[in-house]
Amino acid sequence: MRTFDKGPLVKKSLVLLALALGASAPAFAEEHGHEAAGGDSKLDQLLPVCQSCHGEHGAKPILGSYPVLAGQHTNYIEHALKDYRSGVRSNAVMKAQVANLSDADIKALAHYFSQQESPLYTITLPKSGASAQSPDQAK
Ligand code: HEC
Repeated sequence: MRTFDKGPLVKKSLVLLALALGASAPAFAEEHGHEAAGGDSKLDQLLPVCQSCHGEHGAKPILGSYPVLAGQHTNYIEHALKDYRSGVRSNAVMKAQVANLSDADIKALAHYFSQQESPLYTITLPKSGASAQSPDQAK
């Protein structure tokens, strides 16, 4: 999948922009552990877009080369999103995703994905001196 149909995303961004600018936009709830079920907060609107690539709850990316977000550290996700936004981290796809996000949006997204059950894990290495091998050493 080399090309992306930006149509629906652009439309969505415009809707979000309108919402962000509108005085009647519902105050963005800084609700932690918030589930993306049927609400109409900005987070609820952003999540389906993210999940269209990173998979349900950010745990099942649609392509192997797309990163898992579920269970990643909050500050890592926040840092990555801010770097895409500032251009420090350069990726055409993600740049478009974060262009209109506020710091609060980024915080909320980072918190959400950090709380999701993840297929990622770290192994516990034996204390030095033990003979077991890490996967890297076992190659
Ligand atoms: C069109 C597909 C697509 C959409 C939609 C998308 N992403 Fe991504 N995302 C990617 C790809 C591809 C990468 C890897 C980019 C790179 O190599 O820097 C990525 C990388 C990331 C990373 C960095 C992960 C890491 O381990 O460094 C974060 C965080 C992230 N996306 C969050 C989001 C969030 C939050 C949203 C919704 C606002 C979103 N993405 C929407 C495709 C997408």
